[in-house]
Amino acid sequence: MQETKVVLPDREIPKQWYNIMADMPNKPKPPLHPGTKQPIGPQDLSAIFPMSLIEQEVSTQRWIDIPEEVLNIYALWRPSPLYRAHRLEKALGTPAKIYYKYEGVSPAGSHKPNTSIPQAYYNKAAGIRRIATETGAGQWGSSMALAGSLFGLEVTVYMVKVSYDQKPYRRIAMETWGATVHPSPSTVTNTGRKILEATPDSPGSLGMAISEAVEDAATHDDTNYALGSVLNHVLLHQTVIGLEAKKQFALVGDYPDVVIGCCGGGSNLGGVSFPFLQDKIQGKNVRVVAVEPISCPTLTKGEFRYDFGDTAGLTPLMMMYTLGHNFMPPGIHAGGLRYHADSPLICQLYHDKLIEAVAYGQTGVFEAAITFAKTEGIIPAPESSHAIKGAIDEAMKAKEEGKQKTIFFNLSGHGYLDMTAYQDFLAGKLVDYEYPDEKIKEALKELPVIE
Ligand SMILES: Cc1ncc(COP(=O)(O)O)c(C=O)c1O
Repeated sequence: MQETKVVLPDREIPKQWYNIMADMPNKPKPPLHPGTKQPIGPQDLSAIFPMSLIEQEVSTQRWIDIPEEVLNIYALWRPSPLYRAHRLEKALGTPAKIYYKYEGVSPAGSHKPNTSIPQAYYNKAAGIRRIATETGAGQWGSSMALAGSLFGLEVTVYMVKVSYDQKPYRRIAMETWGATVHPSPSTVTNTGRKILEATPDSPGSLGMAISEAVEDAATHDDTNYALGSVLNHVLLHQTVIGLEAKKQFALVGDYPDVVIGCCGGGSNLGGVSFPFLQDKIQGKNVRVVAVEPISCPTLTKGEFRYDFGDTAGLTPLMMMYTLGHNFMPPGIHAGGLRYHADSPLICQLYHDKLIEAVAYGQTGVFEAAITFAKTEGIIPAPESSHAIKGAIDEAMKAKEEGKQKTIFFNLSGHGYLDMTAYQDFLAGKLVDYEYPDEKIKEALKELPVIE
């Protein structure tokens, strides 16, 4: 019988997160205050984050202990399995070995609870009563709702309006875990009301929903804000994925030539790849590839400069590859990949050529998803399917070149609540939309100029 899964016992859950800031050849430039444009200090963030998370955000310490309470909740689904994709390899006829780590085993169905749990833990410890956050298609919102219910925190979610209307099941999951969900733009915040006045039928965007959640947190003493991607502490928490994977590869005596992750804000890519990038920085030959949609080509077509994290310009300015904070993403199905920028850590590493990036259209991505579902069984999230497409392309390249290669990707979530996307694909309704260069140039003109 062939071995398919590499499973670790609970006691092998990593006890520390890996902080890549300790090893980066160039650290990211500091975030700037949105008003003064001067570097911000910990105090500037304390209105919306607990000090423990702010300390993690700026830490350069290589290893950071994971609290016992967080480990005990991680044990509900961690360590997640590493699979060898025997059937996919066979279907492709490739000499390459393909492995994937499956984060869809978490209660919310994606990698996002790896950070929602510690974020809820640290907020609860700081005496916070409520968390305000945003969500696109609902993966992050449901992960935060789950974490809130486990730690007794109220959770308010601003959900991008188009998803709120089109994807009721994730909203119902959030409500089942006890969260309150508002369609964004909403009438609850000044930002939302202003947007609705100007564009009453606005479909919303992640940038708008972030503005609403930040405003909510900043205007209520008992409420903090939580973000599901982009920030350093979020990527830090996600490194449990790559750390476990390294142990699993060691058990089967293998090591990846290439590590692949889809990239929305960069948290699952950072989580799966940073422990391998630590080896790369020390001279090991391993490639890391970010996969993004051609309709939101942040790394492949954006500019590396300071921009806001949200539409209203309430967040600090961060040094990122960006399409401009007013970027209105087309309504592709991979809702979690429709963010105008990326994590400053990922962007700096990409700028320093330690990470590569590719972009694909959604029809090719869904074809890859179907191939995967028919061979490996799991129906993948549309976001994760970008990584599958990346892995299949690498495997086909290996076939052309007749090369043995070990390919590893993170299957960041399942797609069982994304059935309308599959329905549209199967009915031939999906089209590829390449975001026009002129529109990017236009949006970038509105960016603040930092001397
Ligand atoms: C399943 C899944 N994968 C990936 C992403 C992209 O986010 P990130 O780049 O932070 O991993 C999302 C975002 O919602 C998601 O739901």
